[in-house]
Amino acid sequence: MNGRKTWQRWAVYVLGMVVVVAALGGLALQTTWGQVLAAKAGKYTRVLAAYVPIGDGEIRFTRQLITADSSTSRTIMWEPVKPEASPVVEYRLKDGAVTKQTATKQTAAAKSQESDSEIKRVTATESVLTDDEVTRYLYTATITGLTPRTTYEYRVGYENKRGDWHPLRTASSGASRSVITAGDAANKTATTDDAANTSATTGDAKAAESEDFTALIFPDSQSADYRGWDALAKEAYKRNPTAAFFINMGDLVDNGEDASQWDAWFTAVEPMIEDIPFVGVMGNHETYNLQWQVREPKAYLSLFDFPAVPQREDKNRYYSFDYNDVHFVVLDTQLAERPEAEREQALAREEAWLRHDLAATKARWKVVLMHKDTLRYPNTKRPDTVPGITDMGYAFMPIFDAYHVDAVVSAHYHMYRRRGHIKDFRRDESGPLYIISGVAGDVRYATLWKSHPLDTFVSPYPAEANYIVLTKTDDRLTFEAFLANGTKFDEVQVNKQ
Ligand SMILES: [Fe+2]
Repeated sequence: MNGRKTWQRWAVYVLGMVVVVAALGGLALQTTWGQVLAAKAGKYTRVLAAYVPIGDGEIRFTRQLITADSSTSRTIMWEPVKPEASPVVEYRLKDGAVTKQTATKQTAAAKSQESDSEIKRVTATESVLTDDEVTRYLYTATITGLTPRTTYEYRVGYENKRGDWHPLRTASSGASRSVITAGDAANKTATTDDAANTSATTGDAKAAESEDFTALIFPDSQSADYRGWDALAKEAYKRNPTAAFFINMGDLVDNGEDASQWDAWFTAVEPMIEDIPFVGVMGNHETYNLQWQVREPKAYLSLFDFPAVPQREDKNRYYSFDYNDVHFVVLDTQLAERPEAEREQALAREEAWLRHDLAATKARWKVVLMHKDTLRYPNTKRPDTVPGITDMGYAFMPIFDAYHVDAVVSAHYHMYRRRGHIKDFRRDESGPLYIISGVAGDVRYATLWKSHPLDTFVSPYPAEANYIVLTKTDDRLTFEAFLANGTKFDEVQVNKQ
């Protein structure tokens, strides 16, 4: 009996030790993993769990939005139909999975690639917009620390659910080294150490090509029936699948409070807005409520998270961003839609910001995007109106002149006109090129607008929808205007040596 008791005591002891060791091991593992998590604390953590796909209709309108520096960051927003826990954006190198599978030898380079190919994650923040008696749950995350000129992919998710992967391409770091041009080997004031920079300093033509990009510019899309806008946006993207981003020049919707119109607008720009970043310009129709009175453009200001400006009260109204070596400025021309007591101060703030922004940029090119035009046009409904300059023109054109803006694109009149170069309110080849972009929705005017002495080209299709393709090549900005059916009806270039 004693021998048996001894054996039992040993068995209990050994079992106890196993339990203790297992517990300590588990603790050690937890500690190790805890240290991994701690090391990755902040925005990025490793992703271990298995996920299930987000079901159809559970989220809407996943979108990429432009950030101030498109070479290293991107903002992602989306709208689940109900509030969700643990919302995240995940991203990885586009070819990361392939690299991992084919890396048979764990060389240092392969290990590095494998490490880079891991999925990273950014926690999203939630905001709620209730407008037009509709509540939207808006999730926003900005990815930072991306590598310039690199193709990633991203997906959104929450809890154990994940959406589809979408492409995400970063721009080059062009703005920070914009003084360098192909063949400009003598000018070696490179500020970054990427490969393109090295080759650019040697005048490598390929490096110059890397600064090239195209972007789509859509004029006012406000509509009574958004099917035409839907077809135009989809056709333009299909014809320009390598576009780096797209711009909508304001009056995105006819009524800024009407939730169904925002749904129609977002539906029209899918899948483009999932694939490439959107650049929004606010128009006067974004400020209209359901009674057609002006109001704070609540929906527009909430639906998009654009680059911040120091003037916090003006967030999302005006901003700027760089794409390769082009600096884009988006203006707010809705001063008349603000309460009268605020207008003067609001304009002063924006003018001060604009001067500072244009003075600070090192980008080689400067392009301004503004909804309301700088020129006043006579029209058949107001025969007493004479051609001239608008309040927005008087406010901003002298600043464009002073800071050598290359091109100014506007909208609002629903007509396409090219006005050539203007400086000091007169024809002057040393001033910016002015283009009024046309119409993309179904509010069209066949005979409304008369001519302006500064017009150099008037679209022969005043009642048809159009879009513009902006192509940036080494020493040239090219604006090409197309009808919805792909017919090109204008082309103009700005050259810089
Ligand atoms: Fe407008």
